[in-house]
Amino acid sequence: MNARIIDGKAISAAIKTEVAQRVHTLARQGITPGLAVVLVGEDPASQVYVRNKAAACEKAGLHSKVIRLASDTSEEALLDVVRELNNDASVHGILVQLPLPAQMNSSKVIETIAPAKDVDGFHISNAGLLMTGRPLVRPCTPYGIMKILESENTVVRGAEAVVVGASNIVGKPMALLLLAAGATVTLCNSKTRDLGAQTRRADILVVATGRPRMITGDMIKPGAIVIDVGINRQADGKLTGDVEFESACKVAGAITPVPGGVGPMTIAMLLVNTLEAAERCVH
Ligand code: GUN
Repeated sequence: MNARIIDGKAISAAIKTEVAQRVHTLARQGITPGLAVVLVGEDPASQVYVRNKAAACEKAGLHSKVIRLASDTSEEALLDVVRELNNDASVHGILVQLPLPAQMNSSKVIETIAPAKDVDGFHISNAGLLMTGRPLVRPCTPYGIMKILESENTVVRGAEAVVVGASNIVGKPMALLLLAAGATVTLCNSKTRDLGAQTRRADILVVATGRPRMITGDMIKPGAIVIDVGINRQADGKLTGDVEFESACKVAGAITPVPGGVGPMTIAMLLVNTLEAAERCVH
């Protein structure tokens, strides 16, 4: 069997087109959705992510501003910036790029963002709403993965879904979104015994561990849809996922590539979350 390669770029392009149309509709009511991205320090990967987020906003007609702070900024100074953005009516979404420098408590910073402007969906209030089945803002990466499943016409209701990696940003919210859509969900972590026995049961397999190529073809159920969230830089400079693509392709029914799979969806859903935060200001 040779897996169908899922085109995350094409799916995200369609979503961005729809966002641009809805931005146009809002503009007629005098509102331009605005995203503020706060970047602390010089982390090279973060710089690239932030640049890409700002560029995607401009392209879809959203307003974006990037606030750059030195790596030795105090936590209190960052909290002041966040509070100011909370009170700025032209800003509908606030994203503080992670990771933050060591002197800052990320949880405290995230919890200072107004939940309605928390377009990452990381605030405990948004995590709690998701947990109780009343989501307001869904975290971008898992939300994007649900859109991929929708676009692939994957039957989620009643399916066996296995999520590998239990982070607050991807694994845990992913499990909750799949559960809400009617899947039977198994959430694996780094201590899971016999991981292959779990992953081989999966009709839907989502891998977000940050460990390059750890899921191999023999750990995949024939015909499964495999979603690879990993972005790992290899010694030769190329990117690889958390799934060994070549062996997985021989077994899976469909698979997301790295790059070009989940990555573009995350940015598209950030635009959706910012747009919807602005729409909530009107309705
Ligand atoms: N760093 C890596 N991914 C993310 C993300 O989705 N949101 C934020 N705020 N920081 C990140």
